[in-house]
Amino acid sequence: MVGMTQKDNIIEVQNVTFTYNEAERPALHDVSLSVQRGSWTAIIGHNGSGKSTLARLLNGLLVPDDEKSKIYIDGIELTDDTVWQIRNDIGIVFQNPDNQFVGATVEDDVAFGMENRGVSRAEMQEVVQRVVADVRMTDFIKSEPARLSGGQKQRVAIAGIIAIKPKIIILDESTSMLDPEGKKDVLDLIRRVKEQNDLTVVSITHDIEEASEADDIIILNDGEIVQTGTPKEIFQQVELIDRMGLEVPFINQLIAQLRANGIDVPLAVTNESELTDYLWKLNSNM
Ligand SMILES: Nc1ncnc2c1ncn2[C@@H]1O[C@H](COP(=O)(O)OP(=O)(O)OP(=O)(O)O)[C@@H](O)[C@H]1O
Ligand SMILES: [Mg+2]
Repeated sequence: MVGMTQKDNIIEVQNVTFTYNEAERPALHDVSLSVQRGSWTAIIGHNGSGKSTLARLLNGLLVPDDEKSKIYIDGIELTDDTVWQIRNDIGIVFQNPDNQFVGATVEDDVAFGMENRGVSRAEMQEVVQRVVADVRMTDFIKSEPARLSGGQKQRVAIAGIIAIKPKIIILDESTSMLDPEGKKDVLDLIRRVKEQNDLTVVSITHDIEEASEADDIIILNDGEIVQTGTPKEIFQQVELIDRMGLEVPFINQLIAQLRANGIDVPLAVTNESELTDYLWKLNSNM
């Protein structure tokens, strides 16, 4: 069938350039990328590389510099006419959980997005109960968001987003202010929600171990894309990652060190169990 061999990209960004008012240089310069439907894509890059700017362009909070810049979300070009429709398709969870609450209670807050979209009262109540249960916050449904822990706040923010049934969730450093347990909790929740709702996840993150679990990785540097690929492809390039001011997962650092010391670890070895197997065999051949 025609089209079957084509990749099914839910996000297409073509030649996007964006400059903040009065900035000397663009925050993003001629950026093109695509994100496959149903994937988990990590965007990494050092501070100021343009990651959050990209997120804000994707849902039309910022508008590119010129006509050459094109953004397509689920096949629809982002324009003045489609921006409201597209905002229903993309939910963004930000870094600081405190800056994303508008409601006096958890249930009010979760309902807020739906109120703005003209959902009926009865449906709204049903959906709020369901999504609050999904994020395991039912016991706190009448609580004031300000009184919750960081992880709980992020879970409430996520509930508000899934209530609107987006196709894409963007996490902009959403777990960076959480302790390891809260971080794991929120990521597990996103994984579960993603599977249940056929979501595409774009995760902007400094957490290299999280990025290594993504399907695809995009590296931004000074407003440009320097590399895209699977975690396997990306993290083999230890030198490049280093040059970008980023960290390499421990296992890839170890493999690079072994190679530098004359142990010829094959390229196919990219994770802990493969490395353990290889080293065992190597040892038993000595
Ligand atoms: N509101 C703004 N006005 C002017 N310049 C901005 C604004 N927001 C960001 N910038 C600049 O645009 C560039 C890209 O910033 P952006 O916030 O997109 O980077 P980032 O990759 O998200 O960084 P971080 O990892 O620190 O969150 C930086 O040079 C930044 O200083
Ligand atoms: Mg940012």
